[in-house]
Amino acid sequence: MVVEKRYAEDAIKFLLENEMLDDERRISREDKKVEIPVKGNIALPFPHSLKEQEYILYRGQDVPFKEIKKKAERIIGGKAELLPKKWEKFGDVLVIKFPGGFERKEEVAKIYADVLKCRTVLEDVGGIMGVKRKPLVKHIYGDKNAETIHVENKIKFMFDASKIMFSSGNVDERIRMAHAGNEGEVVVDMFAGIGYFSIPIAVYSKTEVYACEINDVAYNYLKKNIKLNNVEKNVTALYGDCRDVAPRNAADRVIMGYFKSKNFLPYAMEVLRGGKGIIHYHTTCPKSSFPEEPFSDVKKAALDYGKSVEMVFHKKVKSYAPGIIHGVIDVKVF
Ligand SMILES: C[S@@+](CC[C@H](N)C(=O)[O-])C[C@H]1O[C@@H](n2cnc3c(N)ncnc32)[C@H](O)[C@@H]1O
Repeated sequence: MVVEKRYAEDAIKFLLENEMLDDERRISREDKKVEIPVKGNIALPFPHSLKEQEYILYRGQDVPFKEIKKKAERIIGGKAELLPKKWEKFGDVLVIKFPGGFERKEEVAKIYADVLKCRTVLEDVGGIMGVKRKPLVKHIYGDKNAETIHVENKIKFMFDASKIMFSSGNVDERIRMAHAGNEGEVVVDMFAGIGYFSIPIAVYSKTEVYACEINDVAYNYLKKNIKLNNVEKNVTALYGDCRDVAPRNAADRVIMGYFKSKNFLPYAMEVLRGGKGIIHYHTTCPKSSFPEEPFSDVKKAALDYGKSVEMVFHKKVKSYAPGIIHGVIDVKVF
């Protein structure tokens, strides 16, 4: 469905609450409109159009794609059929994944950059790597400086797209987390990155946040983003391994936005104030064992700590690999 930009935030919230947001596809922007993928027909309490979704294909990017293809055909002829129909646009930096053996990428990248009004194009050559979640990308066109400011949900995220990952597939989770806290609560984000969850929950829920980050590049952007979004009073950036730097016996809410965080669950229990509160636990697991598998992991850690648990929310965030999903569960520990 397509809504005017000013209605987008409310529409996403409304769709999330009604479980109608289609998280298999991406939210995209077109001039003053936002296309939001929905699971079916739904009446929104403000103006929207369902018709436009018919021609805005490829995650809302068909309109510029036609223009890109037309221009590229002049250079590469019939090979234009192989052009990537989707891309990531972070601020004014584009990230494109080309099919293997694709030639004249630099010239083609210039076309994408011109049509999509971007300054820099990076080629995605291998996804995201290692504990520090560094993207594997190669500069192919334009300004070599890939630092940009990406605005989402009125939050400004500054980062260097050649060094830092930004998962556009997590957009609805970032929006959900923005409203997950209560004013005055203490939140510990054990894997804060550049502030993906820390900044939205501080801005919208007016919580006090301790944001831990082990990667020095991400930590420096986290500090910049705290300033950029005027939450210096609410958010404290802590550099290092969360097992060392996270405050203990302090939080009403713990965010664990890192897939390999199972072994960190005992520390999350120590971080909760009096061992009580909510844990937002992210994981990858087979589709068929979600949410039971992650819930049993959290339950075990809580029982070992002498506490009880109740799962209060669970959601698939996105597909991760064939048969594997990235999911999140919210667990109340008491
Ligand atoms: C990339 S983020 C996860 C993505 C994010 N949840 C999102 O919505 O896109 C995970 C972060 O955890 C950090 N990290 C990994 N191990 C850590 C640890 N032991 N302590 C603190 N931060 C850690 C990584 O450097 C990375 O920046």
